[in-house]
Amino acid sequence: EGKAGTNQERTFLAVKPDGVQRGLVGDIIARFEKRGYKLVGLKMVWPTLDMAEKHYADLSKKPFFPGLTKFFSSGPIVCMCWEGKDIIAQGRQMLGETQPLSSKPGSIRGDYSIDLGRNICHGSDSPESAKHELNMWFPEGVSDWGKEVDAWVYE
Ligand code: TYD
Repeated sequence: EGKAGTNQERTFLAVKPDGVQRGLVGDIIARFEKRGYKLVGLKMVWPTLDMAEKHYADLSKKPFFPGLTKFFSSGPIVCMCWEGKDIIAQGRQMLGETQPLSSKPGSIRGDYSIDLGRNICHGSDSPESAKHELNMWFPEGVSDWGKEVDAWVYE
């Protein structure tokens, strides 16, 4: 399950503290549900600074790392595992560009944000990072609905 390139591909998406506090959780979930993606993991977590540093470990040398990790651990986030065809790449498209000002209207960041350090959401950017991030945020695993429910989404 969860293998990239299949209709059961999975990714890790999160609503960051700004998105939670601005009340955007429902809207963000609704976008993915309406597109046809399947929610297989969902929980609220208040990350410690340690967890934030581990999540963004690849960026530890960047000058913005201290501010980023402080922000990411400043309040609860909503952790999600979404499943479906091409979800890793499509999820990134639906989020928009890292820089909200470069994000197209219609994307989450393009519709709801204007500042790089408050860009609402996170999404894994590759099959490797999806696997790594899902293991980190959902060590207990996710729910498997089975394929019977997919008949109205896939031919
Ligand atoms: P990154 O992983 O490059 O982007 P994305 O979230 O789109 O995968 O960066 C992680 C977060 O770090 C990004 O969402 C916003 C923040 N950030 C800054 O605050 N300043 C910067 O210059 C960059 C590149 C990112």
